[in-house]
Amino acid sequence: MSFIRQFQPPAAPRHDIYVGIHKGLRAFMADTLLRFGRLDPDDAVELAESLDALTALIDLCAAHLVHENQVIHPALNAAARGASDAACDDHVDHEHAIARLRQLAVQVRSSAPVERPERVLRLYRVLSCFVGDNLLHMHLEECEHNACLWRAYDDAEIQALEERIVASLSPTELMQSLRWMIPAMSPRERLELLGPMAAAMPPAVFDQVYAMVRHYLSAKDLVKLDRGLKCAA
Ligand SMILES: [Fe+2]
Repeated sequence: MSFIRQFQPPAAPRHDIYVGIHKGLRAFMADTLLRFGRLDPDDAVELAESLDALTALIDLCAAHLVHENQVIHPALNAAARGASDAACDDHVDHEHAIARLRQLAVQVRSSAPVERPERVLRLYRVLSCFVGDNLLHMHLEECEHNACLWRAYDDAEIQALEERIVASLSPTELMQSLRWMIPAMSPRERLELLGPMAAAMPPAVFDQVYAMVRHYLSAKDLVKLDRGLKCAA
């Protein structure tokens, strides 16, 4: 199993720029893949909702790889020449796969009922390859890139890179990212993300974020989050 890279934990806790968004992307990818696996091609509403979910997923993936290319890769290459080369090659493959998925989605939307089951199955199979490659790719980034960033930069510098990415998001992109990240995180990670947001955002804006996020959490996770945010306030 040579594709399982060894993650070397840092000697002391360090800021992980990847873990939150990658957990969210893994959850969104898995959810969308399962959705297409069980899709009834004859159910027009279910089909439209599934294609909308696919579009939202690949839009988020496309934006994510642009953020990494523009913000994280230059920092990696400044620390060690060529440090982002493998991930850059993967990103080119992922751009092609995203274009192919968009094409297949158009074909499914425009297909006659008799062709639809076969086209949905084709899309499902291509999506499964895209998801599989992304899972390996994200693991590479979390092992190799984190190690490089931690060697070259302190946590404040790594957090500054993350803040540049967050500042570039539209309100819709931010909500979409949080919608998948928060439920996919551990209770402690949720609190570490939402606690500072509660302190920094205008209360009305944070309430909007919190109302959206609550919708996707279990009763048990909500109790932990409510309690943690009260203690942090
Ligand atoms: Fe990436």
